[in-house]
Amino acid sequence: MGRVYAIANQKGGVGKTTTAVNLSACIAEAGCSTLIVDADPQANATVGLGVPRSTQPGLYDVLSGEAQPSEALVDAAVPGLRVLPAGPGLAGANVELPRLPGFELRLREAIAPLRAGFEYILIDCPPSLGPLTVGALAAADEVIVPVQTEYFALEGLAGLLDTLARVRREINPQLTIAGMLLTMYDARTRLGQDVEQEVRKHFPDLVYETVIPRNVRVGEAPSFGLPVTHHDPHSAGAEAYFELAKEVLVGGAA
Ligand SMILES: Nc1ncnc2c1ncn2[C@@H]1O[C@H](COP(=O)(O)OP(=O)(O)O)[C@@H](O)[C@H]1O
Ligand SMILES: [Mg+2]
Repeated sequence: MGRVYAIANQKGGVGKTTTAVNLSACIAEAGCSTLIVDADPQANATVGLGVPRSTQPGLYDVLSGEAQPSEALVDAAVPGLRVLPAGPGLAGANVELPRLPGFELRLREAIAPLRAGFEYILIDCPPSLGPLTVGALAAADEVIVPVQTEYFALEGLAGLLDTLARVRREINPQLTIAGMLLTMYDARTRLGQDVEQEVRKHFPDLVYETVIPRNVRVGEAPSFGLPVTHHDPHSAGAEAYFELAKEVLVGGAA
């Protein structure tokens, strides 16, 4: 049975999609069948894996009951990795979903039959704590929280932790935090080191040892429709995501 990870943080631009795409690719490369579910209407994970934004059916069609989850799966440009694309219309889901009965459980129900076919399922969440993120947290076994290594890194995390607690209480008591991941780390600055120290002090045992460096190759890979691990496997960014995958495969930051 596949293990499901939500990649969540309501702040935009902290490296959620980059982590979902590259971690999935590394896990697939390690020989595990992997699925990435794009739950962000911006469809950056879909496009970043070489799948057209307009691909249908997508997650919207699955959540609205118009397509079976298995019908919506497509191959990524990476062996062993499949994508459940966001698809057009997902933006509307934020408005429509709350009107549907049991909306918070729809993503979980959609993913349930897919667990048998994959060892790992990663959900890329949108930058909000809205219904799609809540649905992803309800569907997940564990959460990975990318934290950008910058001033105010911890700002907003309280809101995410509150939402996690609520989802645990009301929908998904098994949900745990797999780890927090420091992203876009710049080793040349004092700031990077200071922020890393602060985050580790604040969340002892919860922060992955691997830190993702700021790396040009990571930023440009999506424009080639490839994870950085295939765009430039020897780049510092690719190497860091391989290290992260090892940590995730052995079971978390703690
Ligand atoms: N380690 C990194 N090095 C360089 N650029 C990065 C890195 N991680 C993310 N980026 C870039 O930063 C931007 C935001 O990252 P993204 O993963 O899309 O964040 P989110 O999904 O949280 O909004 C993107 O343009 C991405 O390519
Ligand atoms: Mg994103």
